Amino acid sequence: MRNVLIIGGGGREHAIAVQLAKSPNIGSLYCIPGNAGIAQIATCAPEISVLNFDAIYEYIELSDGIDTVIIGPDDPLAKGLADYLEEKGVRVFGPSAAAAKIEASKSFAKRFMTKYGIPTAGYAIFTDYKEAVDFVKVRRHPLVIKADGLALGKGVFITQSPSESVAILREIMEEGHFGEAGACVVIEECLQGKEVSILAFCDGRTVVPMVSSQDHKRVFDNDKGPNTGGMGSISPSRYYTQEVATDFRDHVLIPTIRGLQAEGIKFKGVLYFGLMVTAEGVKVVEYNARFGDPETQVVLPRLKTDLLEIFDAVIDERLSEIRIEWYQNAAVCVVIAAGGYPVMYEKGMAIRLEETPGVTIYHAGTKMFGDELVTWGGRVLGVTGVAATVEEARKLAYTGVSRVNFEHKHFRTDIGTIL
Ligand code: AMP
Ligand code: GLY
Repeated sequence: MRNVLIIGGGGREHAIAVQLAKSPNIGSLYCIPGNAGIAQIATCAPEISVLNFDAIYEYIELSDGIDTVIIGPDDPLAKGLADYLEEKGVRVFGPSAAAAKIEASKSFAKRFMTKYGIPTAGYAIFTDYKEAVDFVKVRRHPLVIKADGLALGKGVFITQSPSESVAILREIMEEGHFGEAGACVVIEECLQGKEVSILAFCDGRTVVPMVSSQDHKRVFDNDKGPNTGGMGSISPSRYYTQEVATDFRDHVLIPTIRGLQAEGIKFKGVLYFGLMVTAEGVKVVEYNARFGDPETQVVLPRLKTDLLEIFDAVIDERLSEIRIEWYQNAAVCVVIAAGGYPVMYEKGMAIRLEETPGVTIYHAGTKMFGDELVTWGGRVLGVTGVAATVEEARKLAYTGVSRVNFEHKHFRTDIGTIL
């Protein structure tokens, strides 16, 4: 029997844990730091930080035979947790820091796409505030302004006027709202179209896309308000047609893998393609070096193949030898956030929840306070309905949402409708 440690403590990690728990070969599951939901199926170590590599290794050594580690979040990947653990002889699912740079530096990703002819929004890169200001003053708006580094999905701004752009640049570059991540900015043309997320398993040689999904990042209905880490997701995406899939494979997927190989980067883990389906074809909005959140909460429930078998095939670089199968169904995940997220919100509110058949509640920001379940983050729970169609899955998910209550709960009411 196999004992697996998951790094991370969000809805994505809960979905990974639920899927792994279905494997006939799983002995024990562990999670650092985990959350109250994950703690129902795994032994959690909430006191250990995902960035404290020595403490993570010590936990593995002292454990009762953890043999494999799955890394969920971007930060430890970007800081080299996979490299660190591999050097110590631990089996790891997750890319090296060099490979994770495709997510951790937007300027690196943009230059990579230009070099390998991968379609993406036109852009300019700035490290000098004054030059960036001069640029936005003469450009046609809207523009998209991005802090170069990791910013919890909150370092991207769509601006409508030069004065708004200057104000954002000041926050990022002068006032340092994103710390080091904002020392460099990428300014892009604003693409029009439909967003689709494609997550793909990759062992450095073979890449296998998962079923398509769509994330809703804005905090309010009709894609209004600021960007968040994700307010809901659906799978499959209605915009990922056969034609789009072929365009993606030929102009994005294959050139990306060839480009990584040409750069000498062995990418082992999940490569995430954030796409915009535009009138001129598919363009890449961003790469991530990990499972998406909340996409994972709608993609993994549709997986038929044993997830542990896939992780093993990636780690051992024999992904080409296995067959990955999916159910022909649909899933919708509605995120329930704390009122005020992503700006300011309270923690510690008591959660009352009732289970619904056909619905899985993935925990994100939750914690046990004595024997009471309380909110402990901006995104609190992800409620996923799985059914034959998106419409049925949506109804199930919202039934599930209506049975969860805490003070100031906030959720979008339009996840899974046509947007
Ligand atoms: P990113 O972190 O780069 O994925 O950006 C977050 C979100 O901002 C994306 O999911 C899009 O909704 C939006 N976005 C980013 N870049 C662009 C762009 N060039 N054009 C339009 N929307 C964008
Ligand atoms: N859902 C977007 C992300 O995981 O970055």
